[in-house]
This record gives sequence, structure tokens and C-alpha cells, in this order.
Amino acid sequence: MATKFFIPSVNILGQGSVDEAINDIKALGFTKALIVTDKPLVNIGLVARVQDKLNTQGIDVVIFDGVQPNPTMGNVEAGLALLNTHQCDFIISLGGGSPHDCAKGIALVATNGGQIKDYEGVDVSKKPQMPLVAINTTAGTASEMTRFCIITDEARHIKMAIVDKNTTPILSVNDPELMLEKPASLTAATGMDALTHAIEAYVSIAANPITDACAIKAIELINANLVNAVKQGDDITARENMAYAQFLAGMAFNNASLGYVHAMAHQLGGFYDLPHGVCNALLLPHVQTYNAKVVPQRLSDVAKAMGVNVSTMTPEQGANAAIDAIKALSCAVNIPANLTELGVKAEDIPTLAENALKDACGFTNPKQATHEEICQIFTNAL
Ligand SMILES: [Fe+2]
Repeated sequence: MATKFFIPSVNILGQGSVDEAINDIKALGFTKALIVTDKPLVNIGLVARVQDKLNTQGIDVVIFDGVQPNPTMGNVEAGLALLNTHQCDFIISLGGGSPHDCAKGIALVATNGGQIKDYEGVDVSKKPQMPLVAINTTAGTASEMTRFCIITDEARHIKMAIVDKNTTPILSVNDPELMLEKPASLTAATGMDALTHAIEAYVSIAANPITDACAIKAIELINANLVNAVKQGDDITARENMAYAQFLAGMAFNNASLGYVHAMAHQLGGFYDLPHGVCNALLLPHVQTYNAKVVPQRLSDVAKAMGVNVSTMTPEQGANAAIDAIKALSCAVNIPANLTELGVKAEDIPTLAENALKDACGFTNPKQATHEEICQIFTNAL
């Protein structure tokens, strides 16, 4: 079967990447940027630092700092209004997954018209989005380099999955210096999100040898570096390795897609406004327990990448070891114990399960589930 591989055409990684990126932006001839970001990054002075660098190169800047942690249709509309008022000719997303996703929504509607909800699903848009440069500050959602855009529809209380080749940024930037001093809880949640990307891509029915290589290397790097990045936020080596890891996990899931962990976590995020990475971390072992019946060898490979000696194990034993290793890593980075601690209610599960089965991310899970089975997985995670 023929496969396509999607990735931004230029990707800059490592210390000093931001300066390199601004030289590239200047060379591309853009003159006025809409920076899409959030208030915490304004408050710590990061947005002003990037703005100064752009101004020095003669590039004007308009700032939209209204992105919420789970970006909404309202956020997209507010950013789009600012873009149109100021006639910006390109967009820079600065932050983690939320600013990148919101910026993709703005960029897609800017050229295609209508509302962002018109583009829910796979490859619905007709035209390339407005040029988007994505400067990443967490490791990570990998949204700076993927074609995935997740926007909350406030009216329906769901997260819409927009999977569209036209949302791919033209340039992605991963400078670990921007990731230093991020709070431990954010580092843990985003790191577990990256682990989930790699594992879901590795067991996906759309996996191929390229995505497999990316996923396994990502799992190895996350296993070796996430605890250090969480416990010693100024460890630049751990931060840089996590930046590479989340990028590799992004390469994997951008092309092999995801599974029920994301399909289900999106519903928790949309319904209760919970952090994406924490929801993933809590659902990951339970969904892989469900998947272990059909992909034990794949999960045994995951255990090996997480440092388990699987040489004398059966595939089923290896799969169990992977699930144990995932739980141990979650515990080591202080992820909450269960969904009940996050306020998830048993009576909401039938609705959450119904919406999870409609989420495009679940279509590549290695085993398709019934509504009852999804309800059971949610219940197991309570
Ligand atoms: Fe994710």
C-alpha cells in the first residue's frame, strides 16, 4: 500500500534555533506577523524577546495573546479578527500545543473562509492556509510540525479533530532554551503526551517502517530523559533530548495517526476542560491493556524501548511489562492517580464514549471497540 509522509518543509532544532528561524523569516520576505500566544508567555517576557528580534529585522508584529489552554472556536475568531484588522501577511505561533492549534485554525479560515468547525474531519479544506511559522516552547504536543489541529466547540462541549494537510506549518522551531524553567507539572504532562503519540503511532494500523523508527527512538529518549526534565528543569541536555523526542513522536503520529487514547482524552478535555497530557497519561495503560489482545508483540517492543529486558518473555508478558513501565513513568513524574481525582463522573461516561467513537483519531486504533467497551475503558481509569 502506498503511504504519504507529511512534515513541514523546514524544521530547526537545537540551541539557537530562534535566531536562525528569524533569519529564515526575513529571507522569505514576510513583513507583518500576527503572533498567536498566551498570557503566561507574555508575562514571563518571552513574547517581547521574540518581538524585539523580529522588529530588529524590520518585521512588524501584532500580538494575539488570548489563547486558552484548550483553544476554542471563540479564540480562533478573535485571532482572525485581529489578523484581518491589521492586514498581517503571515502568522507566528509561539508556545505549546494550544497556540499552535489556535494559529492553525486562524490560518486555515483566513484563506478558506467560513468557520473552523467547517473543517472538522480529514482534509476538508480546499486551499493552503496562510503561511504559519511555529515556534515551540514545550515538549510536547508536536503541534508545531503536524497537520493535526484540535479546537474546542464551546456549544457542543467537544474537541474537534481537524486533520488536514493544509494546516502544516511552513517552518517549525524547537529551541530547548525556550523550554527551560517550564513548571514540572507542565513538563510531565506534555512529556507523557509525547509518549502517548509514539506508542499510539507504533500500534496504529497505519504504521510503516518510517513511523516505527521515529516512534521507537522517541520512546527511548522519553524514557531516558523525561524524569530529569521534570525534576531538574534547567537540565538543557534533558530538555534538548525531550525536544527531539517529541519531534520524532510527532513525525510518527503525523503519518501513522493515533488511537483511542487521544479519541477518549479529547472528550475529557472538551467536557471538563482538563489538561490533554494528563488525560492521555491516565488513559494510556488502560487503552493498551485493551489493545494487548491484538498487538502483544508491538507492545513488547515498547517495553524494550522503555528499558525492559524482554528477551525471555512471551509477547503477552512483554505487553504487560510495557503497561507496567508506562504506569511507573507516570508515577515517577507525579501524574495524578486516576480520572476520579480530576473530577470525571461515572454518569458522564456514556456520552464521552459516544463522542470518542466519532473522533478521527480512533479510526487507526489496532482494534475497533464497541460503545460498551469504550465505556469500560473509561470506567477502568476512574
Ligand atoms: Fe496529544
